[in-house]
Amino acid sequence: MPSSPTFNDVQRAALTAIRDHHAELTRAMADHVMTLCRWLDRLQTPVGRQMALVDFCDEVVLPHALAEEKILYAAGEQVPEIRLLVAVMRAEYLALRSLTDELKAARLTAGVVGGASALYALFCAHVEKENEVFLPALADAGVDLPALLSEIHDLLGGAEMEERA
Ligand SMILES: [Fe+2]
Repeated sequence: MPSSPTFNDVQRAALTAIRDHHAELTRAMADHVMTLCRWLDRLQTPVGRQMALVDFCDEVVLPHALAEEKILYAAGEQVPEIRLLVAVMRAEYLALRSLTDELKAARLTAGVVGGASALYALFCAHVEKENEVFLPALADAGVDLPALLSEIHDLLGGAEMEERA
């Protein structure tokens, strides 16, 4: 008879689900930025691709980040060792939002490329911190990651971070 999963097993599965979702978001953003640059290289107007990236951020990335702020970061603030890190990550969320607005407003090629590149670079750095420092620290502190993941699902209507384990 198979043994039931331990607390560590379910923690690991939740961690993997969140990291997998981060990888999907990062790949999708990279695709948007690459497509935008390709259009510019061909001297095509980038407006459609620029707005596709803005929409992706407004509709997917920022709601994801906001849900994490409300649920994961709130839990992180209860762990003294990572309280400072949470403050940094909240500031990064505001920067992601500003960069999205700047990209939306950009009218010149340099502004579009610079904005898209800055957005992608910041998002990658943000996700790396979440994956490699923040989430392991939450798990080490004994925070119930599957419960938080389920709260994120509820907040975002179940479309996010499908559990694969
Ligand atoms: Fe995230």
